[in-house]
Amino acid sequence: MNVPKISKRLLAAASLAKEGARIADVGTDHAYLPIYLYATGRVSGGVVSDINQGPVERARANLCDYSAQSAFVALQTDGLSGIEKYAPEDIFILGMGGELIARIINDAPWVRREGVRLILQPMTHPELLREYLSREGFEISRELLVSEDKIYHIICAEYSGEPTELDHFEALFGKGNLNAPSEELYALLERTREIYSQRIAGKSLSGADSDYENEIIAKIDEFMKKETSK
Ligand SMILES: C[S@@+](CC[C@H](N)C(=O)[O-])C[C@H]1O[C@@H](n2cnc3c(N)ncnc32)[C@H](O)[C@@H]1O
Repeated sequence: MNVPKISKRLLAAASLAKEGARIADVGTDHAYLPIYLYATGRVSGGVVSDINQGPVERARANLCDYSAQSAFVALQTDGLSGIEKYAPEDIFILGMGGELIARIINDAPWVRREGVRLILQPMTHPELLREYLSREGFEISRELLVSEDKIYHIICAEYSGEPTELDHFEALFGKGNLNAPSEELYALLERTREIYSQRIAGKSLSGADSDYENEIIAKIDEFMKKETSK
């Protein structure tokens, strides 16, 4: 069976799949992630979905090209609507904004069942997604940062029913990433520091409040000081 070449970002998300799982790939577009997982024998099949017709057609065509069409149902649907009956164990939602991912999860209370894991990759606002997950009682069990054309956050979570609170710094960078600092984390901290310093300069011209940015910069400096003294 042919195996598609997939990006470093998708490879990192794929590495979190449970052996033999039934999966859902929501917002699949090309379906390369599920095809890769199936072709490498990692998962047993499942469902791929997208809200738009073009991506669903592209997904179906690619599933056929890689002889994976018997393992996956391809659906045109919004978020997780209609996915429950396929009983996925691992649900991938990759390449969408953090707020949209949180909305999709919120609209599907059945993902709080035991045995369901969420593997998420927000393109924007990872902090809003982590805050949502923690507040709603999802435990973030794994975190990865992947550097490709930019640094991507990959978050694996499952429902525990125990809400937790994250401070702004933890929400922005991920407790898992902060507890096991990587090269990617240091690069992200440095880049964020630059961006937030520019924002503060811009805001000071307009007289806008920059407490949040100042708080994050102070936490970055404190974190770096602690790490370099180890
Ligand atoms: C940037 S692509 C990401 C494709 C793939 N998941 C990846 O990470 O490479 C985002 C896809 O999400 C789909 N999408 C956007 N909103 C959606 C929603 N509410 N439900 C399902 N799919 C959605 C878009 O049509 C698009 O195909």
